[in-house]
Amino acid sequence: MKIEGKEYRTIWFENNVVKIIDQTKLPHQFIIKDLKTVKDAINSIKIMEVRGAPLIGATAAYGLVLAIFENNDQSFLKTSAEDLINSRPTAINLKWAVDRMMKKLSGVNSDKILDIALKEAKEICEEDVKFCQNIGLNGLKIIEEIYNKKKDTVNILTHCNAGWLATINWGTATSPIYHAHKKGIPVHVWVDETRPRNQGANLTSYELNEEEIPNTIIADNTGGILMQRGEVDMCIVGTDRTLSTGDVCNKIGTYLKALAAHDNNIPFYVALPSSTIDWNIKDSKDIPIEERNSKELSHLNGLDESGNIKKIAIYPKKSKVLNLAFDVTPAKYVTGLITDKGVCDASKEGLQKLFK
Ligand code: MRU
Repeated sequence: MKIEGKEYRTIWFENNVVKIIDQTKLPHQFIIKDLKTVKDAINSIKIMEVRGAPLIGATAAYGLVLAIFENNDQSFLKTSAEDLINSRPTAINLKWAVDRMMKKLSGVNSDKILDIALKEAKEICEEDVKFCQNIGLNGLKIIEEIYNKKKDTVNILTHCNAGWLATINWGTATSPIYHAHKKGIPVHVWVDETRPRNQGANLTSYELNEEEIPNTIIADNTGGILMQRGEVDMCIVGTDRTLSTGDVCNKIGTYLKALAAHDNNIPFYVALPSSTIDWNIKDSKDIPIEERNSKELSHLNGLDESGNIKKIAIYPKKSKVLNLAFDVTPAKYVTGLITDKGVCDASKEGLQKLFK
């Protein structure tokens, strides 16, 4: 997708380093950063220079390439794989990508290991681009249907950033929106700010602006009244882990939006690539929910009057703060799952039909 008219992906390999866009600096600064070691990759995932389920999976895959560059040794590779998996616990794509890489790399002691690793990491990225493109085409049909009935701008609410910045290209929740826009269907996006890290305001709105898609940032508490006023035609969000039961784990606050959508009979869709399905965990209570540093809530980053990025404290010093990063939306509140293989019910049967 485009930044100032130039096409970018979110991660690529060049001159033996991994290039990423530092998302902690967006929207104020567009900085491309080099990751040179597996530690750089782990740190980048932890501090969320890269974030979003598919992108952290791809970064972990490239992290293993960097590990081999540093020290072509099986025990170093194994420890690196474990450290990568533990760097962010909730998004299943991270473990999925590391397991897929390790299947190819475990026990390989020849010089070929680097080529094998690089090829697999690149394939993970290419595959994700195709997944996201297909999600876009499948979701486009739903937007088109709404437009054909309404004959007016389709208003779509989204939470967090499940855009191209969270994937390699296109995004998951945003891909149907980009496809609709390209087809000439008028769309407008309500962008949940998404406290505490403001991925909606900082990333989703930013990338939609760059693609010239009309959008409006709203405080996280505003979606409900917009739904009651008939100003939301549908919701599309992403997910960090979807269970085979159709329960959806996504950025904190997703559940509340799904409840409001349900109460107002507004379709609530979740867009996901097959790499985000967890076929093992059956009970959503077993999903590891990441708890992050309280400073993400109690402090805010922004530009001061001289244009410098500043961090300021906004809470009483003595207050206790809890920062849970994800919640689970039960399948019963999800109208459908928009996947790379088609749209299905958020249920065991629905998913099994598509992913036998
Ligand atoms: O904490 P983040 O910014 O990594 O959370 C991202 C989300 O919750 C996204 O909705 C999810 O990863 C899907 S990305 C296509």
